[in-house]
Amino acid sequence: MPTKSFESPVISETLPRIRFLTTPTSDAWVEQALAHLDTILLDHSHCERKAASVALNLMFRYPSSVKLVKSLTAIAQEELQHFEQVNAILEQRAIALAPLAPPPYGATLNKAVRRDEPDRMLDLLLVSGLIEARSHERLGLLATHCPDRELAEFYGSLMASEARHYGAYWLLADTYFDRAIVMQRLEELAEVESNILATLHPEPRIHS
Ligand SMILES: [Fe+2]
Ligand SMILES: [Fe+2]
Repeated sequence: MPTKSFESPVISETLPRIRFLTTPTSDAWVEQALAHLDTILLDHSHCERKAASVALNLMFRYPSSVKLVKSLTAIAQEELQHFEQVNAILEQRAIALAPLAPPPYGATLNKAVRRDEPDRMLDLLLVSGLIEARSHERLGLLATHCPDRELAEFYGSLMASEARHYGAYWLLADTYFDRAIVMQRLEELAEVESNILATLHPEPRIHS
């Protein structure tokens, strides 16, 4: 099954060319996801709730950073809307909103976040941006390859938002830090992110 790397027009129009995802998603992930669409949908619900929570947590951590607060207020609201949309699909399909063990992706990325400020802020913004970029890429793959038309259209409808979210996190990093430092750290974290996904997690997840 062919896979392709999706580049958002939003990102390429507003950002310089950057190596945001070091390695594109493998065919193996697409096959795994398509064979377990119910689990992917349920995990997607968890991902949207977590994305809202990440945006809120950053606002709690940096309450005086006006640009950050403004931008993340919008993202948190949009992620909650996505959460609601995915949950409506779960309900239609009688898939219970059950807990699901997360893949190692988030925790491993979190370990790469440096603990002292201001490094911590930069890393949190870049890691959040990388997760959004990967979501954008994978929702795009599902939109292209999912045989269920309703789901394919749904995934396609979310792609642009996730690209915008990636762009917003990158712009925040670029607002508060020197461009050269942002680029260098982004490259390091993108390497970590791609390495985590180099081995397919046995349980199907959006970030397996
Ligand atoms: Fe989302
Ligand atoms: Fe998002």
